[in-house]
Amino acid sequence: MAQRVHKAVIPAAGLGTRFLPVTKAQPKEMLPLVDKPAIQYVVEEAVSTGITDILVITGRGKRSLEDHFDRSFELEYYLEQAGKSTEVAEMRRIAEMANIHYLRQGEPRGLGHAVSVAAEHVGEGPFAVLLGDDIMHPDAGVLQGMLNTFEQTGHSVVALKEVPGDDISSYGCAAVRPLEGNLVQIEDLVEKPAAAEAPSNLAVMGRYVFGPGIFDVLAETKPGRGGEIQLTDAIKMLAQREPVYGWTFQNGRFDVGNKLEYLQATVELALEREDIGPRFRKFLVERLSRDDS
Ligand code: G1P
Repeated sequence: MAQRVHKAVIPAAGLGTRFLPVTKAQPKEMLPLVDKPAIQYVVEEAVSTGITDILVITGRGKRSLEDHFDRSFELEYYLEQAGKSTEVAEMRRIAEMANIHYLRQGEPRGLGHAVSVAAEHVGEGPFAVLLGDDIMHPDAGVLQGMLNTFEQTGHSVVALKEVPGDDISSYGCAAVRPLEGNLVQIEDLVEKPAAAEAPSNLAVMGRYVFGPGIFDVLAETKPGRGGEIQLTDAIKMLAQREPVYGWTFQNGRFDVGNKLEYLQATVELALEREDIGPRFRKFLVERLSRDDS
């Protein structure tokens, strides 16, 4: 049995250019899905698997992210005065759910570089990487399955999902060999291939579990697509040296770095809410029937 994974790294230094203008003066990680910022879903997903230490790789203009996971004594005081004890408890829970650390990337040199910045903090143990553009439904169990695989095998695991048509050119793409169940072995990886050249339609989703060996390959990884140090290129190199597994899954992932899927995620999560779900459903049905008539 390999070591248990207690640490996670969340790269959050991106400029959010796909979401301008709303990301001009606020981090894309703080965009709400109903009433929770996207990054809170990601942190809660990590915490739900037993991860207790989270390093967020940030950059300029990301202060509201740190404030969100900090105590706010002033807010708690006013909520207490107003008798809003449920809200006080929720504000404290957000601040206390994990040990969250922040480190700046310095210069935007790509996802691989952002992860390499975490080397000293992570140290000699294994760790998970969660990308904030990919939000997982709490029931999807993807990260938990990947962690179980890592703990059983001691080898790195990457989340993979089939995507339709030309979509593969927006992702890391994996050529794989099937193993047991939904587990595959990665044979090759290419970052954002043209659809015609993609070796498969299996896309890398933003969940990874690594041993510390990934830092050695990242240190050797040359700039790739877009002149950036690509995490995909480092994993490809790792897969040439030792087994790297792919954890394939189908449901429960939203790409909130994309406007259309961001809206879809918002609707799905709102429909599931006990407080507003039923009334929201009624609104949607009425609204759509107006289009049909
Ligand atoms: C990154 C990775 C890519 C991966 C994707 C998942 O790309 O580089 O390999 O498939 O996340 O969301 P980005 O979307 O940051 O351009």
